Amino acid sequence: MPGYELIGKEEQEYLMDIFNTSNGVLFPHGFDALRNNRYRVREFEKKFAAKMGAQYAQAVTSGTVAQVVAMLAMGVKPGDEVITQAFTFVATVETIIAIGAVPVIVDVDDSYNMDPNELEKAITSKTKLIVPVHMLGNTAAMDEIMSIAAKHKIAVLEDSCEALGASYKGKFAGTIGRVGIYSLDFGKTITTGEGGMIVTDDENIYKYCKEYHDHGHESNPAFPRGRDTRTMAGMNYRMNEMQGAVGMAQLEKLDTIVAANRKNKTYLEQYIQSDKITFRKLTDASGDLSDTLIFNFGTEAEALKFVELYKVAGYGTKNIPDAIDWHFAGTWNHMFADVPRYCDTWKTEWQRSADLLYRSVALPINVKTTTEALAEHVKVINQILDQI
Ligand SMILES: Cc1ncc(COP(=O)(O)O)c(C=O)c1O
Repeated sequence: MPGYELIGKEEQEYLMDIFNTSNGVLFPHGFDALRNNRYRVREFEKKFAAKMGAQYAQAVTSGTVAQVVAMLAMGVKPGDEVITQAFTFVATVETIIAIGAVPVIVDVDDSYNMDPNELEKAITSKTKLIVPVHMLGNTAAMDEIMSIAAKHKIAVLEDSCEALGASYKGKFAGTIGRVGIYSLDFGKTITTGEGGMIVTDDENIYKYCKEYHDHGHESNPAFPRGRDTRTMAGMNYRMNEMQGAVGMAQLEKLDTIVAANRKNKTYLEQYIQSDKITFRKLTDASGDLSDTLIFNFGTEAEALKFVELYKVAGYGTKNIPDAIDWHFAGTWNHMFADVPRYCDTWKTEWQRSADLLYRSVALPINVKTTTEALAEHVKVINQILDQI
């Protein structure tokens, strides 16, 4: 997820343009004359939507907030059940709890994403929304998930925070369900420092997101902002112009980032040789974001041994296992204390996911790695695998 690796003069130029042509107006709305009618966040949204092939894009302050706003726009109410998966970042579930809905969490399969069979078993008359998460760049099994959702007439919100630039059967992650959300935090494919984006083709959902994230402002062109019309109360989750400017420079680098990821991951996969590991199953290998290489061993002890030797060699893992406590529901005692469904059972609920995750290792793929460095990396990995 290496947008930060390429931050450079393009981002600086876009930022300086705010000061050179818009008198430093950092607010995304109003001050029309002072800013010379230049609006970076609005431009970023338009370009982002066009790039993704979506009708609408709404910028917000984080991927977490993107999920809150999107769920409210999709009509999720307190008491509704929202189905998501056991391997995800805490935010996916925190947000469901925060709006008073009930998280229903299902196991992942060997794609490390939502198991469609478990999804179908979890559907009840209270299910309002399905949130598959495209973890670490590999899309969930969207054909199966979309057909289950259609059969039960339930909407799908794709958590694409970790998959901006990945695609599934020719469509970008985030544009298959009714709504898609992305994170633009500092670790993601492209970054605005912090930030999020919501995309949809549904005009009503977009309208809700646009108004809710901006205190209910309708941005009615017939009135100045101080007299703007409104029909709902909202919040302030607005992105600022500096983020919009950096976002535009980063968006122009998206294709380069994804191409470099894919080249580097292909190299590693090609030269890592061992019958002790199984690579993660990819739902669409050609669409994989390729910013992470995941494989699993037969036992947890073997995975731990790999990580120990890998660390001695000067390398680190990505989320699995170093940050597994933030990504596996079976460790979230802090979150489930007030969730009756899981408060007593969280430790033992997702055994299939636990079994897979604790035998697994995820390695980061970077954009700027040289071929020499990749060759050295492969050598180290193969030597460690020989010792296991
Ligand atoms: C799967 C997933 N969902 C949601 C988020 C939240 O995004 P943000 O950090 O922008 O709030 C993240 C961020 O790491 C994530 O990985």
